Amino acid sequence: MNQLLESNRKSWDKVAHYFNGVDALPSYGPFTQTEDELKLLDDLQNKKVLDIGFGSGHSLKYMAEEKGATELWGVDLSTEQKLAAEKTLQGLEPRLFCAPMEQEIDLPKDYFDCVYSIYALGWTTDLKATLKLIHSYLKQGGSFVFSWDHPLYAHISSEKGVITLNGSYQQEGLHTFEKFKGENAPMTIHTRKLATYINELIQAGFIIEKVVESDEGAHFKDEDAPVSDQYYSLYKTRRFPSTLIIKARK
Ligand SMILES: C[S@@+](CC[C@H](N)C(=O)[O-])C[C@H]1O[C@@H](n2cnc3c(N)ncnc32)[C@H](O)[C@@H]1O
Repeated sequence: MNQLLESNRKSWDKVAHYFNGVDALPSYGPFTQTEDELKLLDDLQNKKVLDIGFGSGHSLKYMAEEKGATELWGVDLSTEQKLAAEKTLQGLEPRLFCAPMEQEIDLPKDYFDCVYSIYALGWTTDLKATLKLIHSYLKQGGSFVFSWDHPLYAHISSEKGVITLNGSYQQEGLHTFEKFKGENAPMTIHTRKLATYINELIQAGFIIEKVVESDEGAHFKDEDAPVSDQYYSLYKTRRFPSTLIIKARK
């Protein structure tokens, strides 16, 4: 594993407990429409699914209990997340692997009906390699669904409710921040443009079926959205999509 991934892994191990089911299906992301509203997943009864960045395992649990998937596989960088997911998925016999999503770890090829990733794909240090691998894991006709921060959202700041552009959307590349969830847990992340996600999917051989720039979920429609400068807020979400969701097919 390269130094950057090793450092991110250590930090994820530190902050894993903050992500106990927070970004998990049926939610696609903060304040975003859910799977019940968007209906992006195929019929997965008795099917094989693979979760990229499974976190606490709650999305895999949803796949088993709500969608009827019978083979639950997952890859995640963090050993702490794997421990958490094993607890969440007790009795469901998941096959969980602790590894970077961008690395070949001999998962079966042409095997899965659905590969998906909820708020994890953007952590990859190599989008091209990751999408090539994901494409190879899928059966012909299988689907790939992922959600991630809307690429422009990371550049939107709110100062007393006035929305401003922060940094440059044009400059893609690595960014390191020293604190995560208030912990001393440095993380390095690659910012990318919306077109990069779309073009890399096409280059990997996917057919794009649906692109969602999120709106607030039905659950939030009646909530007040007072001025808020927080990174994720209903206030910002009512003005700009927090989440990008793409469904593609092999
Ligand atoms: C926000 S959490 C995802 C939540 C999860 N999808 C769920 O449904 O609950 C992001 C996850 O990505 C994992 N991650 C970060 N970088 C990764 C990488 N390069 N390869 C695999 N997993 C990674 C982290 O360990 C963390 O568990």
